[in-house]
Amino acid sequence: MIFVDNDIIKLNTPSTCLILQKAGSVVKMLHYGKKLRNGNFDLLSRNASQDAWANGYAISHFGKYDYREPLVLLENSDGTFTSYFEFEEAGLLESKPELAGLPASYGAAKTLELTFRDKRNHVCLKQRFSVFNDCDAIATSVSIVNDGAGDVRIKRCMSLQLDLPEANYAMHTFDGYWGRERAMHVTSLTAGIHCVDSKCGASSSFHNPYVLFEKTGRQQEFIAVNLVYSGNHKEIGEVSPFGRTRILTGINDFCFDWPLKPGEQFDAPEAVMCWGKTIRQVTEGMHDFVSGHIVRGAYKNAPRPIVYNNWEATYFDCRMDTVQTLADQAAGLGMELFVLDDGWFGKRVDESSSMGDWYDNRDKYPDGIAALAAGIRQKGMKFGIWMEPEMISEDSDIYRAHPEYAMRIPRGSNWYQRSQLMLDITKPEVRDYVVGQVNDVLSRTGAEYLKWDFNRLMTDVYTDRGSIYGTYFHKYILGLYDMASRIVKANPTVLFESCASGGARFDLGLMCFMPQVWTSDNTEAKDRVYIQEGSLYGYPENVMSCHVSICPNHQNGKSTAIESRFNVAAAGLLGYEMDLGKCSQKELETIRDQIVFYKQHRELLQYGRYIRLDSFWDGKYSGWMKVSEDQNHAIATVVVKEYMLEDGDYLFRFDGLDPEKRYSVKMRPQHNVEKVQEYTAYGDLLMTLGLNFGNVFDDTDRQENSNSIASRLFVIESLD
Ligand code: DGJ
Repeated sequence: MIFVDNDIIKLNTPSTCLILQKAGSVVKMLHYGKKLRNGNFDLLSRNASQDAWANGYAISHFGKYDYREPLVLLENSDGTFTSYFEFEEAGLLESKPELAGLPASYGAAKTLELTFRDKRNHVCLKQRFSVFNDCDAIATSVSIVNDGAGDVRIKRCMSLQLDLPEANYAMHTFDGYWGRERAMHVTSLTAGIHCVDSKCGASSSFHNPYVLFEKTGRQQEFIAVNLVYSGNHKEIGEVSPFGRTRILTGINDFCFDWPLKPGEQFDAPEAVMCWGKTIRQVTEGMHDFVSGHIVRGAYKNAPRPIVYNNWEATYFDCRMDTVQTLADQAAGLGMELFVLDDGWFGKRVDESSSMGDWYDNRDKYPDGIAALAAGIRQKGMKFGIWMEPEMISEDSDIYRAHPEYAMRIPRGSNWYQRSQLMLDITKPEVRDYVVGQVNDVLSRTGAEYLKWDFNRLMTDVYTDRGSIYGTYFHKYILGLYDMASRIVKANPTVLFESCASGGARFDLGLMCFMPQVWTSDNTEAKDRVYIQEGSLYGYPENVMSCHVSICPNHQNGKSTAIESRFNVAAAGLLGYEMDLGKCSQKELETIRDQIVFYKQHRELLQYGRYIRLDSFWDGKYSGWMKVSEDQNHAIATVVVKEYMLEDGDYLFRFDGLDPEKRYSVKMRPQHNVEKVQEYTAYGDLLMTLGLNFGNVFDDTDRQENSNSIASRLFVIESLD
């Protein structure tokens, strides 16, 4: 996996490689991309420029003529801010070293550790690259050690630097807002700097840390990067005047200024990169990395339960009798886990109170939540519960007892979101309080699932203890990881789902603790096609929680047939989130059949190889497939964006099948479609010509979908 040949170090993954060259005081990055044979890399080396503006080195620092965005920027103990890190040694490690207080990828890996030293300022920089034998991703990290006698200040410490020898890249970023998370935007990198970031204390729905760089032109290829981090981040693509491209990703240096005392080490979060000749290859590499080396615990590779969540059915008015009725209906339809959402605690009747008072609301639950949970188990379902552990309401017992637990600025107006403040979890006693509360709720209810919500972003950042400006954002995230790791360790069989006003913390950091994420509060099927497609560029379906909800949709008022709502939600981890009492008999029968189908094909739907087919962004279809490893079993979903008069037939090409195998292609029977389509064809025909579905908007569809999508789901089975 890692080969050393004199001055050349070659890190191999199954189909990519990173080639470095030790060259005196520097390490050159000769190649990152397609796997090359071992051999003589002199040619690459000769082409690597020595000019500071154009060099392709493994690391960069500020102060010595390279004026591009640097990997690190330090204020030395004597007030200078020139760094000069010279290469010292390369070591091979049999595993990945831990990063203090930070989650990271895991699993059999070999690591190259490069040590650089700034002799004048007595600072050491370690850069690591870890390769796995079963996936194409390379994990990388950076640490800085103060070996001197005076304090150093870290103004910037990014986690990944890739200096690429050419220009002509396009940067694909995944951006949005509440209800429209992770929409892909493509920007051509011409001269200068392009960057996305987050400054709100969370990875955010504004810009996801997952970014794709596409080499455009004749030799198209892709490099994906991501960060194992949940806080402020920054991703940069810079093209130098010499036409070279530098990629950086790491903690945002905005409001970052970290003091490093003599002997101390700072670990930047782990980053990951993956190369692919095609966008599909790079997506698969990232999916393998997340499924195999980020997600962990009892639910890794395990069937995920079909959830019923009461939020959109009751909102805060979740009383015992209503909830029990919903649970009866959900159990009767075959759902497997009942999630009691917001409103069950303190004296909460709306968003104005009780955050932090995690005791049972006896007005709503006279016998307590444990009794409710026991009743739900008797109905044959597991019990799950919602909490928002990082928050506090001013109208709460905990705030009255400990106002100093809240994050707020003194003597000033504070900004409220959802009427609540955040807890100052940089304080150990606040973390202990939160950990105690969450563990207590889980143990007294025996909950098998916890939805960990986070419904506001950081404002009025302050603590009455220690420094604020340069350290708070990162200390907060370290506090979050401290709590999450203690809670997950104490409750190893609980399924955790992270949530942040929908998908505002859809990141690899939290996925190390919580194997699934609430994708978006927007559950409307047409919008969801976009949101899920964006999410799936970098994250696998087994982290993506997707619910079927009522129509008209509560977020955008649109209506879509319930079969299409299911077809779209079945792309990920299925749940239902609606007042089942308001569903017609036909809808309930439809839901029952959907659940039978999902259970029958659960493994493929949750863990099959995801292949993106077409996209709403490009035309009238969206489509995706899940294919088993042996290519004998697949499910294809075809979605048509909207009904157009006399639109002709719909042709659709599949992918990922074995061209030599004969397959039966059978439509999942839908309650809104009379004719079940069925075909037999070889893989090559299905992938080359595709199928002609006629006009999928038949009469029933047209009535039900006047303004929205129509969809079909096909089960494809090998006949050989
Ligand atoms: C925001 C979440 O995204 C919703 O699913 C729901 O849990 C609410 N918070 C509850 O307050």
